[in-house]
Amino acid sequence: MASTNEFALELSRQNMAGNGSVIIAEFQTKGRGQLGRSWFSEPFANLMFSIVLKDVTKEASDAFLINKAIAVALQQSIQTLLPEQKVRIKWPNDIYINERKVCGILVENSYNGSNISQSIVGIGINVNQHFESFSSLNAISISEHLGAETDREELLKKILENIESKLTLTDKSPDKINQAFDKHLLGYGELCVFDLDGSIEGGTLRGCDSSGRLILEMNGKEQHFVHGQIRQLIG
Ligand code: BTN
Repeated sequence: MASTNEFALELSRQNMAGNGSVIIAEFQTKGRGQLGRSWFSEPFANLMFSIVLKDVTKEASDAFLINKAIAVALQQSIQTLLPEQKVRIKWPNDIYINERKVCGILVENSYNGSNISQSIVGIGINVNQHFESFSSLNAISISEHLGAETDREELLKKILENIESKLTLTDKSPDKINQAFDKHLLGYGELCVFDLDGSIEGGTLRGCDSSGRLILEMNGKEQHFVHGQIRQLIG
């Protein structure tokens, strides 16, 4: 398959995918990443899937709440597997184990006026792939930390249950999602280094606002940045 996100979108267009449908691939030939990047994953080693959400009753301004709920669910599920490690959300919605990326999320929304009519939530998790020899990729897998292969089906089941419960919270108590997201942000409350339009700047990470912008305190003032404008430098 080219991309589970693309396939999910096509199935939905043809009325063949309902709310909660999950499309899973063992390999993708055109995996999509954030900001138009590609997502590469070793076939039959990892998890690549997309969830179709059709009953999202969110206004466009709340779009990032869905990303936050997904990121919180994934952070929690992976942390449970690796209690000894620091599993954190790297803004806007990557999951890192210590200082390496283990999971990427790509949410693609469709709109009906000012409401979100559909979200395709694409998730790629490095589960059993070995990255040690490609350290320049800054990627890591769950199995590299566990020292053993992980049952992908079991992990997927747990993750889907967790995502469902966090998505329910977006209606019932969105503050819980906002707080959990900030709490697990990589560098929260710390002085971090960023690439801001090509210049290296320092700022204290104060969280993420409701539209998904990163809040930094710089020279005593709070500033909000959009994805693509600023990049957190790790390590
Ligand atoms: C990122 O880190 O840039 C986001 C990566 C998202 C990758 C997943 S793999 C399953 C789904 N299908 C895609 O084409 N992309 C997402």
